[in-house]
Amino acid sequence: MTIIIIVLLLLRCSSSEKIQYNREVETLLKWKNSLDNSTSHPLLDSWRLYSKFSTTNNINSPCKWIGIYCNKVGSVTEINLANGSIRGSIPASIGNIKNLTGLYLYGNLLSGFLPSSLGNLTKLEFLELGINQLSGPIPIEIGKLRSLTWLSFFMNNINGSVPLEMGNLTNLEYYQLDENSLSGYLPENVCLGRKLLEFYAYDNNFIGPVPKSLRNCTSLIRLELQANQLTGNISEMFGIYPNLYYMDLSSNKFFGEVSEKWGKCSNLSLLNISKNEISGSLPLELWKAAQLRILDISFNHLVENIPKELGRLKFLFKLKLNNNSLSSIVPSEIGMLSELRYLDLSANNLSGSIPKDLEKCSKLADLNLRNNKFGGAIPFQIGNLRPLQNLDLSSNLLGGELPFELQNLQNLETLDISHNNISGSIPATYKEMLSLTYVDMSYNQLEGPIPKIKAFTMAALGNNKGLCGNNTSLKTCRMEEKKGSNGIVVLIVVSILGGLILLFIVVGLLFACQKREMIMDGQGETPIKTYFVSWNHDGKKVHEEIVKATENFDSKYCIGVGGYGSVYKAQLSTGQVVAVKKFHTNDGILDAGEAFASEINVLTRARHRNIIKLEGFCSHTRYSYLVYGFMEKGSLSDILSIEVKALELGWRKRGNIVKGLANAISYMHHECCPAIIHRDISSRNVLLDDEYEAHISDFGSAITVDPDSSNWTPFAGTFGYSAPELAYTMEVNEKCDVYSFGIVILELIMGKHPGDLILSLSASSSSSSPPAVLEILLKDLLDQRLSPPKNQVAEKVVSIVKVAFACLQPDPGSRPTMKDVCDKLSTSLPSLSEPLHTITLEQLFYPPTSTS
Ligand SMILES: *[C@@H]1O[C@H](CO)[C@@H](O)[C@H](O)[C@H]1NC(C)=O
Ligand SMILES: *[C@@H]1O[C@H](CO)[C@@H](O)[C@H](O)[C@H]1NC(C)=O
Ligand SMILES: *[C@@H]1O[C@H](CO)[C@@H](O)[C@H](O)[C@H]1NC(C)=O
Ligand SMILES: *[C@@H]1O[C@H](CO)[C@@H](O)[C@H](O)[C@H]1NC(C)=O
Ligand SMILES: *[C@@H]1O[C@H](CO)[C@@H](O)[C@H](O)[C@H]1NC(C)=O
Ligand SMILES: *[C@@H]1O[C@H](CO)[C@@H](O)[C@H](O)[C@H]1NC(C)=O
Ligand SMILES: *[C@@H]1O[C@H](CO)[C@@H](O)[C@H](O)[C@H]1NC(C)=O
Ligand SMILES: *[C@@H]1O[C@H](CO)[C@@H](O)[C@H](O)[C@H]1NC(C)=O
Ligand SMILES: *[C@@H]1O[C@H](CO)[C@@H](O)[C@H](O)[C@H]1NC(C)=O
Ligand SMILES: *[C@@H]1O[C@H](CO)[C@@H](O)[C@H](O)[C@H]1NC(C)=O
Ligand SMILES: *[C@@H]1O[C@H](CO)[C@@H](O)[C@H](O)[C@H]1NC(C)=O
Ligand SMILES: *[C@@H]1O[C@H](CO)[C@@H](O)[C@H](O)[C@H]1NC(C)=O
Repeated sequence: MTIIIIVLLLLRCSSSEKIQYNREVETLLKWKNSLDNSTSHPLLDSWRLYSKFSTTNNINSPCKWIGIYCNKVGSVTEINLANGSIRGSIPASIGNIKNLTGLYLYGNLLSGFLPSSLGNLTKLEFLELGINQLSGPIPIEIGKLRSLTWLSFFMNNINGSVPLEMGNLTNLEYYQLDENSLSGYLPENVCLGRKLLEFYAYDNNFIGPVPKSLRNCTSLIRLELQANQLTGNISEMFGIYPNLYYMDLSSNKFFGEVSEKWGKCSNLSLLNISKNEISGSLPLELWKAAQLRILDISFNHLVENIPKELGRLKFLFKLKLNNNSLSSIVPSEIGMLSELRYLDLSANNLSGSIPKDLEKCSKLADLNLRNNKFGGAIPFQIGNLRPLQNLDLSSNLLGGELPFELQNLQNLETLDISHNNISGSIPATYKEMLSLTYVDMSYNQLEGPIPKIKAFTMAALGNNKGLCGNNTSLKTCRMEEKKGSNGIVVLIVVSILGGLILLFIVVGLLFACQKREMIMDGQGETPIKTYFVSWNHDGKKVHEEIVKATENFDSKYCIGVGGYGSVYKAQLSTGQVVAVKKFHTNDGILDAGEAFASEINVLTRARHRNIIKLEGFCSHTRYSYLVYGFMEKGSLSDILSIEVKALELGWRKRGNIVKGLANAISYMHHECCPAIIHRDISSRNVLLDDEYEAHISDFGSAITVDPDSSNWTPFAGTFGYSAPELAYTMEVNEKCDVYSFGIVILELIMGKHPGDLILSLSASSSSSSPPAVLEILLKDLLDQRLSPPKNQVAEKVVSIVKVAFACLQPDPGSRPTMKDVCDKLSTSLPSLSEPLHTITLEQLFYPPTSTS
């Protein structure tokens, strides 16, 4: 207020010449006062009158103020408050400062509309208002600024269309409208004066074709029109620009073919026409644009081959032709691109083999050939690309074996060769690739051991022929969890919605692992976010659905209780019924953590029709649970204990269950690598689906073992099923499962646990004469609730009992392996030499060598 009074006083005692002069002071001080003074404007501190009643010009001249520049007679010609954190608006009175040639207000917090009085600043050459919060339309009066050479409005909220009057600005060299909300057509006469050097209109809502004046605007050196809705035939929209070095037309709706005219843009260094509707083939003349460094024509509809002439672009640094329909082979001339750092040809129809000449692109750091039809083996020459950081060859038809030369890729961070047909083993020397943080080798034919480095520990390796995993990760995690992370640790759920059953793993748990391992390793790399493929599906939603379906794990949905937790039945909104095994948690700490981790670890790797399928799992401080498909018929133990149910389970079905169990355990012991030992096989842990197909469940005690190692573990198992040696040794091998299997199949044949029989057998094992119990007739041992088996079924039963007795040998070494068991069960049997009712146990227990 006082300042205004002072100004008024000053005005009153001034001559007319001084009134003009002071009008500028007045304008500037008024503007200063109008600004939002909640924040300080240090730039403007100098904007004040020093002597209230001075009549001399010098003392109160604004020419000494910061950001103000004057001409010889002390009239303001330039205001520069760039990057000043100034809040407020541009005053209409700005039109009073008529000698202004430069107005630099970019990088502030100015809001409000552009005043039309700007049009009165007819001497203005530089108008720079970028990076503010200005809104509203561009006033048509701007068209009067005939001297303007530099106009920039970028990064504001200016809207409406560009007024036609702007076409009068024929002196413009630098024209920047980008990152606003402008709509309508691009200014028609943008290059009428043929002086335009740089034009930026990107990130607006411009529509329509490219203005005619721009088509042969030969002065242009930089053009950025990306991210609008411009349309038109691209080969007609643009001409030859001898000075142009930067042209970004991406994310528009241009169609037509890549113009060969661009080959004549001899200064062109970047050309981006990604994300348009470009069709046709690549013009070979493009090589003449000899300065090209970045060429991006990705996400279009290009067809036919990549012309070999492109190899002549000797400065090319980045080439992106992904997501087109390019076909045929990649020319070996690609190897001439000696400056190439980044090559993305993914998502095309390229075929043939991966050109070995790529090795000559000795600066290549990113190579993406994903999703094509490349065949043959991965050329070993790729291993010579020392700078390579990211290599994606996934989803091709690649075969052969992995070249050991890849071990030389010391800078490689991500390696994806998933979804191919690569066989053999992973060269052990890959453990030298210490930069690796992400590996996906799933869906191939690989087998053998996995290199022992972290990246492989965490790698996606599923769906191969037989890879030996490293199972420490989840246990590490659990420890991390116990070490007191708070809130949701992780939510890991398999999508059961929509009928799809896909594995989704939200990262937290593994992320936690990674962190821990990094601490242990002392490495400072940034953690990787995903180790498992994750689709855009919400694990949290599935969790909510499960909580809802079980009314927050209400006991009325509980269908079983075990040592580690309770099992609930849940019907999801899709109609699918699942079993949810919820682990006991105590104050957010998982009591049964070991079991939980073990089960996840085993079941995410072991896939077999007779092993229960893990559909998801969730680990949360309050809920830790596993989700499986629901098994209609319940456990074998339940069925055998209820007569009506036992009657349903005839001899054929029982034979089939034995076969299924044998196959599953054999798979665990001999096909999984490292082998899985269940350690708790019992009739309670054999579940039957609605077709009485057996599924082994409850892997909470399971361990994995390397073939050549011995494993010392505390006892686990169920009394009555565990092998006798476990009473005196903690050394575990797979023969303990063989023993338990023997008990279960004998139980299945007898209809009840064979406890007494086993007891009498072992009690007499020390005496030299055969135990009396062996004189029992087999028929008396069979489940009496069923009528005795006949013919081939009877033969099957006999062979099962024989196998069972072999499995129950007290000496683990003399028990058969599960592979032997499967062989015995599947070989067609000789017909029984005598009628079933005359066979004694002794004949089965000590089978004559000739029949074995
Ligand atoms: C700050 O602005 C308010 C009005 O927004 C005004 O009343 C006040 O006097 C100003 N303060 C200063 C120090 O200029
Ligand atoms: C304003 O900031 C930009 C970038 O933040 C900088 O390039 C420019 O030189 C600065 N201008 C002034 C006048 O400080
Ligand atoms: C603009 O500057 C000229 C001198 O170049 C001066 O004669 C004139 O008075 C100034 N105009 C205003 C409005 O200050
Ligand atoms: C611009 O100048 C014209 C004439 O010179 C005047 O009539 C008009 O009021 C001025 N506009 C502003 C906003 O200063
Ligand atoms: C421009 O934005 C203002 C708000 O800032 C709005 O009122 C006006 O309708 C917009 N005009 C157009 C053409 O979108
Ligand atoms: C300015 O542009 C408008 C619209 O394009 C036009 O009608 C007018 O004649 C132009 N003014 C001058 C002085 O060229
Ligand atoms: C190209 O520019 C020239 C002037 O340099 C002009 O005469 C000609 O009409 C323009 N051509 C097109 C197609 O706009
Ligand atoms: C090309 O660019 C260079 C510098 O980048 C420049 O000196 C030259 O004038 C430009 N124009 C032509 C036609 O080469
Ligand atoms: C080309 O443009 C697209 C879309 O605007 C952008 O995502 C891409 O990064 C650009 N390519 C290059 C090489 O800059
Ligand atoms: C684009 O223009 C060229 C040259 O005029 C023409 O040959 C081609 O057929 C046009 N393409 C489309 C899709 O209209
Ligand atoms: C590009 O190709 C990838 C396959 O590599 C595909 O997943 C993606 O959806 C494609 N993108 C578009 C926009 O077509
Ligand atoms: C699994 O990997 C960890 C760390 O990467 C390593 O310490 C451990 O020895 C490995 N275990 C096996 C069985 O390979």
